[in-house]
Amino acid sequence: MVGSAVLRRLQKEGFKNFILRSAKELDLRVQRDVEEFFKQEKLDYVFLAAAKVGGILANNTYRAEFLYDNPMIQNNVIHQSYVHKVKKLLFLGSSCIYPKHAPQPLKEEYLLTGELEPTNEPYAIAKIAGIKMCDAYRDQYGCNFISAMPTNLYGPNDNYDLKTSHVLPALIRKFHEAKTENKPFVEVWGTGAPRREFMHVDDLADACLFLMEKYDKPGFVNVGTGVDVTIKELAEMIREIVGYEGEIEWDTSKPDGTPRKLMDVSRLDEMGWESQIDLKERLRWEIEDRR
Ligand SMILES: NC(=O)c1ccc[n+]([C@@H]2O[C@H](COP(=O)([O-])OP(=O)(O)OC[C@H]3O[C@@H](n4cnc5c(N)ncnc54)[C@H](OP(=O)(O)O)[C@@H]3O)[C@@H](O)[C@H]2O)c1
Repeated sequence: MVGSAVLRRLQKEGFKNFILRSAKELDLRVQRDVEEFFKQEKLDYVFLAAAKVGGILANNTYRAEFLYDNPMIQNNVIHQSYVHKVKKLLFLGSSCIYPKHAPQPLKEEYLLTGELEPTNEPYAIAKIAGIKMCDAYRDQYGCNFISAMPTNLYGPNDNYDLKTSHVLPALIRKFHEAKTENKPFVEVWGTGAPRREFMHVDDLADACLFLMEKYDKPGFVNVGTGVDVTIKELAEMIREIVGYEGEIEWDTSKPDGTPRKLMDVSRLDEMGWESQIDLKERLRWEIEDRR
């Protein structure tokens, strides 16, 4: 989802000469293959969007894979970017890096100030290692490697597989199916009380290009809209857009995850970038497009 959005944004800007590989063509976990790839292709700028990604179920079920794949991918790419003198690298993390009970909205300085949310701890630890690795390579070798932490994303190429998807595409799929199959209710995990922020992936891609052009510092930058909704509000919004008239049943035996996750976006704001895409408006557009 993110990689293709960044590509669309760069193409729109008129950039050419992209060097792209699918996971099938190049498994970034394999050190020797990544080394060979960097040796052959003289990369100038790297957007590191490849990762093992998933929602609460995948994060909690495939804990070992999240903690093996992600550090392998990022260690190989970051290290080879240093070896082969990449001019600049942007590492993409996630808002999961923050402690479960961090004050809200989440400021960059809250990193490593408390316990992580247990359901996505392996993913968060991998992402924190990625941020620290970019900073360490900047400190020790002078590399211009930066990190951005996006909030929850949605948009084209999202994952609609209920076993691995995030909450927003999962809700779209569930309401669509319930409507088509005339189901009396849709079951949703948790209580509906957690608050989450959702950003369209094209908005993130725009911020990535902005940071690649303008940001050259250690640490990382939050990327979000600065606005959150409860999962209940989100579910009702999607139900209304899909046009489903049945009930929502909350399965409170399932975990809620972190109670609230709202990014403090003042650092990005001060640099002169702000989100342009409204959640409800774009969701209506995306969902109607899928009909
Ligand atoms: N989605 C979100 O809500 C969200 C929120 C915050 C941050 N992020 C971050 O944004 C980045 C991109 O996420 P996304 O949503 O775009 O996920 P995605 O759609 O699943 O894309 C991840 C990409 O990584 C590739 N990949 C996975 N393992 C690989 C490997 N071993 N070798 C090479 N490529 C591999 C996948 O290739 P295949 O498809 O070919 O397997 C896929 O194209 C991640 O770092 C993620 O943590 C995402």
